[in-house]
Amino acid sequence: MSLSPITQTPRILVFDSGVGGLSIFAEIQKKLPFASLIYASDNAFFPYGTKGEAELITRVDAVLHKIIAAFPVDVIVVACNTASTVALPHIRNHFTQPVVGVVPAIKPAAAQSKSQVIGLLATPATVARPYTHNLIREYAPDAEVISVGSSELVQLAECKLRGETIIAEQLNPILQPFFDHPNGNKMDTLVLACTHFPLLRDEIAAQFAAGLQLIDSGEAIARRVASLLDAYRFKEQSPKHWAVFTKASPAINALQPQLAQFDIHNTSVVAV
Ligand code: DGL
Repeated sequence: MSLSPITQTPRILVFDSGVGGLSIFAEIQKKLPFASLIYASDNAFFPYGTKGEAELITRVDAVLHKIIAAFPVDVIVVACNTASTVALPHIRNHFTQPVVGVVPAIKPAAAQSKSQVIGLLATPATVARPYTHNLIREYAPDAEVISVGSSELVQLAECKLRGETIIAEQLNPILQPFFDHPNGNKMDTLVLACTHFPLLRDEIAAQFAAGLQLIDSGEAIARRVASLLDAYRFKEQSPKHWAVFTKASPAINALQPQLAQFDIHNTSVVAV
């Protein structure tokens, strides 16, 4: 797929069901400080991790069309494992922009793990997806993968970004299956396969023995986006970032201080 020449600051759409994609947004911002980023949260349909595959594809299609009509962009980043593992082929067929998706970082985890006991923490939908099972079969055939799906953890990441403190007592029951597993004590690598979870990286890491590697896809995604824009020369300009939501909600106000941390000072609602 070839990009049309971009002469101004490139605009990159970073899309998720909620605030999770901000973990990807931060990595892209680091790598491409000249780019303007449109952060889109489908808060009207959040969470995605409990939804069926067909309804998710239909929803993502509708949301992306509406948001891109309001905010034209040069690249689409589906900053959501739950959406990417089911909707990427559809999105690639229905949009002209290059599409970058986020999928569980099983391959780097298998390459780095010494014990070959790997944890996979994702939404219930991602854990159950054939796409995820194929990744494990292909890239971690000899590893034992302990999978835990949690929507509560997604909610806790949302709460944290609205200013709440997340405590060990909230995380323990969610992470307990790793400790209950007969080989849980051999796990040396944990894949954060939901973009919400890197927002709770320190809190999650604190529940495990020191030395556990936590892996996510953020940096790899930013590298991929940068490579797509590599061939172009950009004018030095100060980028302008936006947050776009699919429904008005008081939660948007509560998020403003955190959005400001990401240098997002403009918010819009595009109802879908
Ligand atoms: N952040 C999303 C992911 O990476 C999904 C969270 C949700 O809406 O359930 O999977």
